[in-house]
Amino acid sequence: MAKNDKKHNGPGFPPAVPDESLNVPVLREEIATVFDPQGQIAEQFRALRNSIQSMNADGASHTLVVTSAVPGEGKTVTALNLAVSLSELPGVHTLVLDADMHEPSVEKYLGLPRRQGLAEVLAGQLTIDQAVRATSIEGVSIMGAGTRPQNPSELLGSDRMKAVINHLRQNHSYVVIDTPAALNVSDASLLGSMADGILLVVKLGSTARYHVQRTHNTLEALGGNVLGTFLVDANMPNIGKDYSRG
Ligand SMILES: Nc1ncnc2c1ncn2[C@@H]1O[C@H](COP(=O)(O)OP(=O)(O)OP(=O)(O)O)[C@@H](O)[C@H]1O
Ligand SMILES: [Mg+2]
Repeated sequence: MAKNDKKHNGPGFPPAVPDESLNVPVLREEIATVFDPQGQIAEQFRALRNSIQSMNADGASHTLVVTSAVPGEGKTVTALNLAVSLSELPGVHTLVLDADMHEPSVEKYLGLPRRQGLAEVLAGQLTIDQAVRATSIEGVSIMGAGTRPQNPSELLGSDRMKAVINHLRQNHSYVVIDTPAALNVSDASLLGSMADGILLVVKLGSTARYHVQRTHNTLEALGGNVLGTFLVDANMPNIGKDYSRG
């Protein structure tokens, strides 16, 4: 193994190949919408999808940031399951954008190798279309985070990032953006201000209400539109949903 394989810096990852993952099956149980599409958890993600669809006057928030107050609350798993349930609708194509440049995990949950992605696009080394990869899930594509840059927040807050989201939005029905925890770094707030809506994932019994409220306030103070909270109960075989505004 080359000595830089495990590092996020250095020469980075190989270029993305758009179709190389088309036949890679999704094996992780957390991706319930694929693993157990008839099950209760998948059904709850469809309910989440329906709520999101019905919230905006034009029928949908097309660009959605998924974040949480603190790490490990279930953002990436929620982003992926939401994308799958959106793409179950006829004619819908969803892109999952991994904008967690600190600890990216979209590729990991899908069993895919790390490749160049958002970081290289923002650095002008890759076109958007070169960074978009098909998956084995019908209607779901991804753009990985790419090689970890020195200054993720600066890149994510740039006009170039706005242009990337707008371009992706034009070519997909939905863009679901996975981010780092909002209380740790400003990335989620920056991205939230560029997206149509923000979904705040809350792990039941682990995150203090105070932190959730503070995160909510911070996201909105920076111009974000918090659509609601999605409750994850890691101890239960199902996922709760509290979709009341605020
Ligand atoms: N709906 C769920 N029900 C039960 N467990 C879940 C659910 N969603 C996520 N988990 C578990 O919680 C853990 C964290 O999930 P995930 O990686 O999605 O969190 P995250 O918020 O993206 O973390 P990070 O802040 O590190 O990016 C994983 O072990 C995952 O299996
Ligand atoms: Mg994550």
